[in-house]
Amino acid sequence: MRIAIAGLGTVGVGVIRLLATNAGIIAARAGRRIEVVAVSARDRGKDRGVDIAPFAWEDDMTALARRDDVDVVVELVGGSDGPALACSRAALAAGKGLVTANKAMIAHHGLELAGLAEASNAPLKFEAAVAGGIPVIKGLREGTSANALTKVYGILNGTCNYILSTMERTGADFAAVLAEAQARGFAEADPAFDIEGVDAAHKLAILAAIGFGTRVDFAGVRIAGITRVRAADIAQADALGFVIRLVGEADVEETPQGARLLQRVRPCLVARGHPLSAVDGPTNAVVAEGNFSGRLLFQGAGAGDGPTASAVAADLIDIARDEVGAPFSIPVANLAAIPPAEPGERTERSYIRFMVKDRPGVLAEITAAMRDGGVSIESLIQQGRSAEGGEVMVAMVTHEGPEANVARALALLEGSDSLAGDPLVLPILPL
Ligand SMILES: NC(=O)c1ccc[n+]([C@@H]2O[C@H](COP(=O)([O-])OP(=O)(O)OC[C@H]3O[C@@H](n4cnc5c(N)ncnc54)[C@H](OP(=O)(O)O)[C@@H]3O)[C@@H](O)[C@H]2O)c1
Repeated sequence: MRIAIAGLGTVGVGVIRLLATNAGIIAARAGRRIEVVAVSARDRGKDRGVDIAPFAWEDDMTALARRDDVDVVVELVGGSDGPALACSRAALAAGKGLVTANKAMIAHHGLELAGLAEASNAPLKFEAAVAGGIPVIKGLREGTSANALTKVYGILNGTCNYILSTMERTGADFAAVLAEAQARGFAEADPAFDIEGVDAAHKLAILAAIGFGTRVDFAGVRIAGITRVRAADIAQADALGFVIRLVGEADVEETPQGARLLQRVRPCLVARGHPLSAVDGPTNAVVAEGNFSGRLLFQGAGAGDGPTASAVAADLIDIARDEVGAPFSIPVANLAAIPPAEPGERTERSYIRFMVKDRPGVLAEITAAMRDGGVSIESLIQQGRSAEGGEVMVAMVTHEGPEANVARALALLEGSDSLAGDPLVLPILPL
């Protein structure tokens, strides 16, 4: 099987290395050799640490899709639109297979690309787009395909997990840990997509589509990132028996108005003892709960050249074996269009943190707002005293109750000059 690779960065070079190192194993399992015949990137002269001289070069990556000597195009450029999308569309329209690691493109254009793939009877695969080296798409499409899933959730962004678990270990604050993560290559120079939760939301939208047989709905994901989590929150969570993790979760709920798809990404308190609490550093983990399989945990490296290349090559082997089904598990026309769940309709326990002016009456004001909003407080902690006129932290854990009540209580406190800044609400993930 002859392939062309668009994008020779971390993942592209990883794929070239893997295909060369494991050529024998791959040929035996795929039933034929998988050979790179052509490549494309921005800078032809760049030293990439692998010899690309044996491969044909195209300046325009879309030209890869027009080559007669190419069976499958591997898109490893990135970006939801631009050249990656043009090249992917061209490959599928030409009837060539497409393998991609591009979660942003699949989250935004996955349905269109899957439609093109079906129309051309061409394979489209994107295992590496979700949780890097973890075969979670395979797990959901194949391993749990006989189940109705009740829930899919997990830690989908290694950068955030590295930052949160490092804050936990060192006690350092967000900005310092982010800077260190950038210096060590665990965070991008522009980390916005990661720390704001967008990258995890791309992956969640893909998992939800496959897990629940729904149309990919990235716009329906409610997203909160980790930038407002302080070292003091992590210490407080620790004292209460929790760690803080950025969790993406999706489920489908039957309501009197019909089915609703809930998709959200937000930092959560995770009880020590929950399998996700032990997921540290840049690791990813996905939990899928099936009605017959029970709880399944997929865990491993969510990024990096080796793990991501492993997922890309597994897709190539499936294509070489002619083992490909519908990209989202069922044909595009049969994917359900389920409206997003309304915010505030679920019940949960929450951790709420306030920074308040250190003066009498503040606690009474907060607890009155909670009472009037219908929020029942399980525990309340006021940390130390500040220097005169300073700020102190007040944290509480609520009993399980409607999310909307927390919002109502906080609305009652809006504009109060007792508060120094907006409160932070973090849900507590059920065990
Ligand atoms: N890195 C990971 O661990 C990881 C994990 C999972 C998924 N992914 C996904 O895999 C994809 C690639 O990621 P990566 O980390 O390998 O990226 P990367 O190291 O930045 O490499 C991107 C490659 O694309 C080329 N490129 C970028 N813009 C281009 C343009 N306008 N025209 C032509 N070529 C262009 C670059 O060319 P030059 O080298 O010539 O500049 C480079 O070779 C992304 O979709 C990413 O989300 C990455």
